[in-house]
Amino acid sequence: MRLKRGWPAFVALLTAILLVLAGCGGGNDNNKQASGSSANKVEVFSWWTGGGEAKGLDAMVADFKKNHPNIQFINAAVAGGSGTNAKAVLASRLQANQPPDSFQGHAGAELMDYIKAGQLEPLDFLYDQLKLRDVFPQQLIDQITFEGHIYSVPVNIHRANVLWFSPAVLKEAGIAKPPATIPEFISDLQQVKQKTKKIPLSLGAQWTADHLLDAVLLGDLGVDGWNALWKQGADWSSPQVTKALGDYATINSYANAEAASTDWQLAAKNVVDGKAAFNIMGDWAAGYFKELGKTPKVDYDWAASPGTDGTYQWLSDSFTLPKGAPHHDAAVAWLTEAASKQGQDLFNPQKGSIPARKDADTSLYTGYLAWALQQWQSDKLAGSMWHGVTANNAWHTNIDTSVGLFLKNKNVANFQKSLVDAATSGLAS
Ligand code: GAL
Repeated sequence: MRLKRGWPAFVALLTAILLVLAGCGGGNDNNKQASGSSANKVEVFSWWTGGGEAKGLDAMVADFKKNHPNIQFINAAVAGGSGTNAKAVLASRLQANQPPDSFQGHAGAELMDYIKAGQLEPLDFLYDQLKLRDVFPQQLIDQITFEGHIYSVPVNIHRANVLWFSPAVLKEAGIAKPPATIPEFISDLQQVKQKTKKIPLSLGAQWTADHLLDAVLLGDLGVDGWNALWKQGADWSSPQVTKALGDYATINSYANAEAASTDWQLAAKNVVDGKAAFNIMGDWAAGYFKELGKTPKVDYDWAASPGTDGTYQWLSDSFTLPKGAPHHDAAVAWLTEAASKQGQDLFNPQKGSIPARKDADTSLYTGYLAWALQQWQSDKLAGSMWHGVTANNAWHTNIDTSVGLFLKNKNVANFQKSLVDAATSGLAS
């Protein structure tokens, strides 16, 4: 996979640069901050560098700057969809005790790793001060709480299980409506291949194949079957999983050959450009399509990914306060912005997500996002594996390794065996 090749060198270089940058003044500012003087900057770490994501961040940062004209905002975003590069850089920084002032971590198992490693400050004081306990859904608060303490500020809810499609390509292929089940999906992919010269399924870098695996397992196993995969007693060796992995192999065989050399943006763009029929991607794609000036229902349309109607495969971006953050007070100011109704309503319509807060101004969420808001109210919930909800970082990495091997050798039996092993150690940790 292209993103993986040359990756250790890239990460090492990036880490070195970031450590040098973080070293410039970090220690001194820390002292100044502690003594209450003017260490006024805040370094915020994410992977939102383009494709609608940066626009959402910029909108919230502009409001932050208005509210805090004396705090310099340092955007420490590291490029690479779903944090593939950023998370490695972050891990090195945390290990070297050079944390940013706040970083983006997914609510759920991913966040728990940081908490259990003692890398985060609890934020109960902020929840009390801003009266945040009631503004977020309880099931979300549960995903960021450990031993009675709350550790992050969720800024949004993303939906992972979205099937994006090109109405024009479907028409050309003679497909009247998007596929509702995995078997229908496979037959539609076949039809696109036979009847058009378009790409049936647009994929990107390896992580987008991980994301696709989440969608296919959920589509085949159903919400209860999916949720059971992440709990004690999970049976990854079941015939149902075998069937789902077989379907995954078939679905993958309709993907574009050059998929691995692009990130999610180009993979999604193939759909709105009428070059591909389908793409399964989280709804950050909606933010990207908006930035591209594309018209919903015309240039692109969407549905629940096949077999998952009525289930919201969710994830939530949340901001943290790392232990030893060099600019503690400025970091708290940033978290206050991220928690605010104003901040969330500026960020999310651009980002392609719905707000984590329950009291957002719904009139701002149009097109795809109006649909998402509605589904969030009525759907059952399934956490996203790839985006940090159901599996901790080690399990996540093991699944990624299994997917990487499978994409090379296409051996379903070995794939299942390595997923069983990943689950055995994941559930034991
Ligand atoms: C997810 C993240 C989203 C979006 C996406 C693609 O992991 O939660 O906010 O950034 O990756 O980069």
